Amino acid sequence: MNMPPKNPLLAVSHSDPYPYYQSLLEKPALFFDAELKLWIASRAVVIEEIFVNPDCTVRPGTEPVPKSIAASSAGEVFSCLIRMNEGYKHERPKIALHLALSSLDLSDTAERSRYFAGALANKHLVTDGAALNTWIFDLPVYVVGDLLGFSEKELPQLALWMADFVRCLSPLSNEAQLAAASNAADALLQSFRQLLLSAPVQNASLTSRILHEAKLVGWDNLDAILANLIGLLSQTYEATAGLIGNCIVTCLTHQHVRGEVGTDAGKINSLVEEVARFDSPVQNTRRFVNQTTRIAEVELQAGDAILLVLAAASRDPQANPAPNDFLLERTERRVFGFGRGKHACPGQKIACSIATVAMEYLLESELNFSRDALEWTYRPSLNGRIPVFSNQRI
Ligand code: HEM
Repeated sequence: MNMPPKNPLLAVSHSDPYPYYQSLLEKPALFFDAELKLWIASRAVVIEEIFVNPDCTVRPGTEPVPKSIAASSAGEVFSCLIRMNEGYKHERPKIALHLALSSLDLSDTAERSRYFAGALANKHLVTDGAALNTWIFDLPVYVVGDLLGFSEKELPQLALWMADFVRCLSPLSNEAQLAAASNAADALLQSFRQLLLSAPVQNASLTSRILHEAKLVGWDNLDAILANLIGLLSQTYEATAGLIGNCIVTCLTHQHVRGEVGTDAGKINSLVEEVARFDSPVQNTRRFVNQTTRIAEVELQAGDAILLVLAAASRDPQANPAPNDFLLERTERRVFGFGRGKHACPGQKIACSIATVAMEYLLESELNFSRDALEWTYRPSLNGRIPVFSNQRI
C-alpha cells in the first residue's frame, strides 16, 4: 500500500502527494511542524499574504549564503543571485532581467526549441526512459544557452556544468557533489566572462539585452551580472525539465487529456499551463522572518522559517474551483508554482514555451509513448518534483 507522505518535504517526491496536500488545506492556516522546525502555509490566501510581507525574506538574515558553500566559487555566485537577495541586490537587477526576458520574441524561442528538440532526439536516440531523461534535461539548457549567445558546440559542456552546479542549491548534496558544484561554478564563471566580452557584438542575444537593460537601470556590478546570467540557466535547468516530465506523466495517466490535446499546438500550450498548476515542478519555497510579524493572525519571531506549499495552494478550491480536475480550459487559472510578488519568476513564459514545443515534439513523434512502456519515480528533492523515467523500451 502506498502510504501518504509524513511531511510536506517528503511529499515532493511522493507518487501522489495531492490527497496529503488536501489534508494540509484543512489544517490551521499556519501551523508549526516541530520535527521540520518549519511553519507550514498551504492555503492560497496565506501564501499571498506571506509573499507581500516585507518582514519575510528569501534567506535567513544570519546565513545569507548556505554555510556548506560559503567559502567556494559556488557560494560567490549564490551570494549575488537576485533569487537569494532582497533590497539593492534584488530590485534593479530584477527590473533589468525582467525587461530583457520579456523583450524576447516567444515565436523565436519556440523556433529554437523546435530545432534543439529534433537535434537532441537524434543525438540521444530517445528510445528508452534513460535517454528521455537526458533529453528532458538538456533541451531547456540548450535553448536558454543558445538565447544567451553561446555557440552550438559549447552547449553540451554547458549542460554538464549546469548539472553539477545546481547541486550547490540542494541541501541534500554530499561533500563530493558540493565540490563538483564549485568546480562547475569556476568553469561557468570563466565561460560566461568570455560570453560577456563578445556580447556587445551579438546584439540580439539575451546577454546583450541584459547588459543593455542593466545600463539603463544603473546596475553596473559586472560580477553580479555574471552570477545572474549563470542564475538564469540554473533556474531554467531542473524546473523546466520537471515541467516537461510532469506533462509526460499527465499524458500517460490521463488518457482522455492526451486524446483531447492531440497534436494541436494551442491545446498543448493549455496542457502545459494546467500541468504547471496541477502538478507543478516547484512544489514549495521558503521565507525567513527577519523581525516580529503577524501572518494569518499568528505572531512569528525573527529567525522563524516558513515553508510555502505552492503545490497545495494551486489546488486550493478558494483559488481554483474544482481544483483536482485537470481542465485544459480554466477561467482565471491561478498558478502558485512560479511564485508571486516581487520574487515571482520572470522566466514563466519562456519555460512554458519550451515545454510546449517539447510536448509537441513528443506527441507528434513515432515513439511508443505509452503507459505500458514507461515507468517513473521522482528525483530525491526537497522542493522540485521531477520524474525519472525508467529504462524500459519505449
Ligand atoms: C517550469 C519552469 C520554472 C518554474 C516552475 C520556476 C519557478 C520559479 C519560482 C517558484 C520562483 C520564485 C521562488 C520564490 O519566490 O521563492 C522563481 C524565481 C525565478 N525564476 Fe523561475 N521557474 C521556472 C523557469 C525559469 C526560467 C526558464 C527562468 C529564466 C530564463 C527563470 C528565472 C527565474 C529567476 C531569475 C527567478 C528569481 C526572481 C526573483 O527572485 O526576483 N525561471 N522561479
